[in-house]
Amino acid sequence: MKKIDAQALRLATAGGGKIYIETYGCQMNVGDSEVVLSIMKDNGYERTEYIDNADVILINTCAVRDNAEQRIWGRLFEMRAVKRRRGWVMVGIIGCMAERLKEELMEREQVVDLVVGPDSYRSLPDLVRTAATGGKAINVMLSHEETYAEISPVRTDKNGVSAFVAIMRGCNNMCSYCVVPYTRGAERSRSFETIINEVRNLFERGYREVTLLGQNVNSYMDGQVGFAQLLRAVAEISPLLRVRFATSHPKDLSDEVINVIASYKNICRSIHLPAQSGSNVMLQVMNRKYTREWYLERISAIKKSIPECSVSTDLIAGFCGETEQDHADTLSLMNEVGYEFAYMFKYSERPNTKAARTMADDISEDVKTARLTEIINLQNELSLASNKRDIGKVFEVLVEGQSKRSAEQLFGRTSQNKVVVFDGRGAKVGDYVDVVVNSCSSATLMGEVV
Ligand code: 5AD
Ligand code: SF4
Repeated sequence: MKKIDAQALRLATAGGGKIYIETYGCQMNVGDSEVVLSIMKDNGYERTEYIDNADVILINTCAVRDNAEQRIWGRLFEMRAVKRRRGWVMVGIIGCMAERLKEELMEREQVVDLVVGPDSYRSLPDLVRTAATGGKAINVMLSHEETYAEISPVRTDKNGVSAFVAIMRGCNNMCSYCVVPYTRGAERSRSFETIINEVRNLFERGYREVTLLGQNVNSYMDGQVGFAQLLRAVAEISPLLRVRFATSHPKDLSDEVINVIASYKNICRSIHLPAQSGSNVMLQVMNRKYTREWYLERISAIKKSIPECSVSTDLIAGFCGETEQDHADTLSLMNEVGYEFAYMFKYSERPNTKAARTMADDISEDVKTARLTEIINLQNELSLASNKRDIGKVFEVLVEGQSKRSAEQLFGRTSQNKVVVFDGRGAKVGDYVDVVVNSCSSATLMGEVV
């Protein structure tokens, strides 16, 4: 920023003002934005939901696939118009794309004043001051220790019922396609005590559901406390508090964790266990460190201890060297598991990952698209079949809000993480109600309170 005007001068000297934050990507980013808002609030900034009121605009970015980055470039282009309209406003890029591209973001798009990576959010207030006086405001240092442990996030959820709680950061797994270990750094766990305190506080404020977050929650470790013990302790805060967690790496999902889930009714009957592929050849080149057989054994262990548990997954179509047979193996894995839900992606090469450095991205865009379409179609069938099996059954639903379609209708989720729309009958957001399912689509259950 070359020109220093009055508004910039105020940011530079007094600090404080209005901050607007936009979040892209995963739930971890949602949690990070809440940490950023808390840091900024402690430095005199107030959150605004209107971009035109903001003194500082932050965009929390994702780098996991190229289309996620393209969206951000598009948004940055729009920021030029915002700047023109406003005369002056600071624009900062934070998160994984900031970490991956560093200075390049400032060089390519002249609208960017500030670049801050996921482990450097404590330096944001200082960097805003630097940027306001025209200095180079960039911090992309990764850390082995930073967990923002004691920071109490400013909640941005709309309902006051469900909250995300980060329990660890970073990832050590080095899946060959994935940029996350480079943008979020090495794995580290947040202290047990600060997690328990945060969840207790949320419950006292009326929250009824927490999702414990990390790239690989099953490798949580604080001293002698592992994920199973943490999960147990969180579940014991109150039987009225629902506990969810994401994401589990199949290689680390232990019997102990499965047993803890089985023994607490308030730990949700829903496990997200990304398979990525059903082919052993692909799993090997992806460096996933398990086989199809190992994965299916974990599924059997879940179903044996928790028969009513739903299972969801992430799948990648068209990874390097994927043959028709490999793809068929993914489809057959989907059928064998009968996933309730899946996030499905075309492989997108990320610069500097193991795959980008050593493997050819040799599946054509057309073939990737065709395979992804087959995967999506199959998943729609599986989701519909699973939902049809719920017709006639009664589920406990945590009410989250009013349905978009009608004011009399409420929506919430079952323990299995399925969305249910039903007639309100006086129930309030945050209540638990028993709902009998009458009909369904592949995405939603419809029912009524019993
Ligand atoms: N291309 C496509 N999908 C990817 N994912 C991670 N990296 C890539 C990539 N390069 C997917 C994985 C992961 C989810 C968060 O994103 O399925 O589980
Ligand atoms: Fe990426 Fe694999 Fe780590 Fe998930 S477990 S963040 S896919 S490296």
